[in-house]
Amino acid sequence: MTKNSGPAATRRGFLKAGLAAGGALAGAGAAQAGSGDPAITEIQPWNQENGDPVDAYPYGMPIEYEKNVKRRTVYWLTADPVSSINFTPLHELDGIITPNGLCFERHHSGAAHIDPASHRLMINGLVDKPLVFTMEDLKRFPRENHVYFLECAANSGMEWRGAQLNGCQFTHGMIHNVMYTGVPLRLLLEEAGVRTNGKWILAEGADAAGMTRSIPIEKALDDCLVAFKMNGEALRKEQGYPVRLVVPGWEGNMWVKWLRRIEVGDKPWHHREETSKYTDLMADGRARRFTWVMDAKSVITNPSPQAPLTHGKGPTIITGMAWSGRGTIKRVDVTLDGGKNWHQARISGPSLDKSMHRFYFEFDWDGRPLLLQSRAIDSTGYVQPTKDELRKFRGVNSIYHNNGIQTWYVNEKGEAENVEVS
Ligand code: MTE
Ligand code: CO
Repeated sequence: MTKNSGPAATRRGFLKAGLAAGGALAGAGAAQAGSGDPAITEIQPWNQENGDPVDAYPYGMPIEYEKNVKRRTVYWLTADPVSSINFTPLHELDGIITPNGLCFERHHSGAAHIDPASHRLMINGLVDKPLVFTMEDLKRFPRENHVYFLECAANSGMEWRGAQLNGCQFTHGMIHNVMYTGVPLRLLLEEAGVRTNGKWILAEGADAAGMTRSIPIEKALDDCLVAFKMNGEALRKEQGYPVRLVVPGWEGNMWVKWLRRIEVGDKPWHHREETSKYTDLMADGRARRFTWVMDAKSVITNPSPQAPLTHGKGPTIITGMAWSGRGTIKRVDVTLDGGKNWHQARISGPSLDKSMHRFYFEFDWDGRPLLLQSRAIDSTGYVQPTKDELRKFRGVNSIYHNNGIQTWYVNEKGEAENVEVS
């Protein structure tokens, strides 16, 4: 607010300097100083007493004023909370990293509780030398750090037939973006020696679901990671502690958590959920098979139904996320009028391969209703389609891979609602 120097470093000095500088800020959405606001004229309690000692919270948690920032579930979506899903509160976040405690969870049989000392990872099948690794063994291989998004193939799946859930947490929150530390799967496979007829791997989890997924060997040797850290600390139990598979840019169900075995084979395995997981039913009844890469997508997170514009007319910031399983995001456009006029948004923060990107669009709101949309263009030149364009060739029989453009209607009061425009 002001450059403090000399006497301004004292509290009285700060107040005086603040009063003098306040007026200049009025245009950018600040109040005129000198209005008698007790938050500035009165001494606050936290200014009079010492705060908590350093050992009050050996593992820190957010302050109580942030208690709304949490994962949420939609109870009617699934029959059973251990085979269910919750959603990342995208509208409460900024930047590109999802904090560990807010990463959405998807389990088929609940979050397994594994003692790392008793956990093993086995590599078997078409290899010269079947191997078993302890967690300690894994940590002796060279490791890498990468930021990747994980998006469930069912993200936005409830929106195929029309606007349904009122909040980006629910329409787009089956996604998180985390920095992983792990060993390239290639190094472990090389250690075991993949035979020339080894064309696929089967990744298996140690949870009660014993979830298994088939992955082509080319992807396994390319950029998959056997990860044990997220955002610098150990994986959370919910995210697969002590070790999970990271399959960059590909749908979340292949990122096997609580990873215990990799089998090398010559063809894909048949999985219990084969027909629903690996295929997208199209309008004409044919199915798209092996649709693993997540196409470019974006969403405006603020404003949105859970995060209305409460400040009225004037300077307003639109922000959101964009990502692509095929590379980086080259550009994001934003429209205020349902697609009649598009404006280039500003991307801020790192632009990393297969990672979320943060965009902003600043404008002066005249208080009239808005039809907000964002449209991502990735490094391959692919342009995020409208929902109607997607439906034209995919129909509405699928619940997977809906990367269509999202619309929020914002009324004069700043309240936002999930709608569709055609
Ligand atoms: N791995 C195991 N072992 N068990 C599971 O139920 N769910 C999969 C995948 N890996 C699952 C799993 C699905 S469908 C998704 S979308 C992601 O994990 C979700 O990862 P997250 O819980 O870290 O968000
Ligand atoms: Co999933």
